[in-house]
Amino acid sequence: MYVDRVRLEALWQQELELFERLHPRSGALWRDAVPHMPDGVPMLWMAKWPGAWPVYVEHASGSHFTDADGIDYVDLCLGDTGAMCGHAPEASVRAISEQLAKGSTFMLPTSDAAEAAALLERRFGVQSWQFTLSATDANRSLIRYSRQVTGRGKVLVIDHCYHGTVDEAYAVLDDGEVVSRRGNIGAPVPLDQTTVVVPFNDVPALERALRTLEVAAVLIEPAMTNIGIVLPDDGWHEALRALCTETGTILIIDETHTLCAGAGGMILRDGLEPDAVVVGKAIGGGIPAGAFGMTASLAAMVRASLDLEDIDVGGVGGTLAGNAVSMAGIRATLGEVLVPEAFPAMIDRATEWTDGVQQALDEFRVPWQVTQLGARSEYSFRPTPPHDGAEAADADDFELQQYLHLHALNRGVLMTPFHNMALMCPATTSADVDRHTLAFREAVESLFAER
Ligand SMILES: Cc1ncc(COP(=O)(O)O)c(C=O)c1O
Repeated sequence: MYVDRVRLEALWQQELELFERLHPRSGALWRDAVPHMPDGVPMLWMAKWPGAWPVYVEHASGSHFTDADGIDYVDLCLGDTGAMCGHAPEASVRAISEQLAKGSTFMLPTSDAAEAAALLERRFGVQSWQFTLSATDANRSLIRYSRQVTGRGKVLVIDHCYHGTVDEAYAVLDDGEVVSRRGNIGAPVPLDQTTVVVPFNDVPALERALRTLEVAAVLIEPAMTNIGIVLPDDGWHEALRALCTETGTILIIDETHTLCAGAGGMILRDGLEPDAVVVGKAIGGGIPAGAFGMTASLAAMVRASLDLEDIDVGGVGGTLAGNAVSMAGIRATLGEVLVPEAFPAMIDRATEWTDGVQQALDEFRVPWQVTQLGARSEYSFRPTPPHDGAEAADADDFELQQYLHLHALNRGVLMTPFHNMALMCPATTSADVDRHTLAFREAVESLFAER
């Protein structure tokens, strides 16, 4: 739908001025930080938040946080899933604090590790688990193991995927050629040397790629969540499993975001059968933690391929990986916070959010779509749900998105900065959702109501 750019620019300026008036203390903190950090932020991507400067967080609990200017927010970003368990969940904080007081990093296991691994096995079906500090590192580790045991060089990923800062996964298709995605910083080698790319839901392309027998592993989200939400077609996962089995390719399912579908992600919900699984972000209860699991047979192949003498220098590891605090965090978060019983309410809240967005779109006859995946939902600037990553990417409109996010922020609602996604945690209430519904309607009205 046509968006009047002059009107959009005027609305943006209005919101920027409001933001500056509302956030003087955050502005002062940011100005103090600028000399010491690029763009005044500890990680450069934090510069992407809409507004004149980032909002500084004072404290957070459950689905809310308060900023340095004393403003309360409903947090629908939830640390881009890192806080899907809610902020500072009591059981996780207790377990983490207790372990911290008893020592945190030993290069030795604690009993929490085996408990965490057993919990993960019950959720995701695969038996043998290892721990990292991030989902990125879990993905990297599995890519290395896959190359090691198959003797093949390439990784297959989905066009417009995201799996963390994994070199191999920064590839997209351009007219059928594998190229580096826009913004890929300092790529070590041309991506077509390491990576094969196919569109999501494209079985013939997948089949052609896997039949070359060059691919060690497919690394895939069961539904795309990082370019908007793209749901799998009927039969996509069955074809993927069958082709991986037939070609001896390792199937890695990354459930880091799709854990929003339920306690065992889409694997448990939809009965998927990967060879390996990655999870991260929220499982630590707010502290760095990632995990990867393998079937018993894959784990046995990996183990048999490694000599004890070289096991610490092989490219899979990390000094603080598997540290006692992360293990306590995972054990408590999976065991007491993100429990199966927590998900139905989270999913109900996401349905209310989706309905609220749809109502505003209907009222002002705006041809955008909204897609829900469990406790997560997302709207995009196109009339129908995208079928693959390229379709989702084509609908992107950075200026429009920045306006909508700043508008929401100025009304006490934090959206994920990278796209139009909202996530619910166990503490999210219907009143929290209503705050977004009201603000979103107002934003849509500002853009499209007759004047
Ligand atoms: C599906 C998926 N996997 C892995 C990652 C990487 O997580 P982290 O940045 O915590 O390593 C992300 C991050 O957004 C993700 O969306």
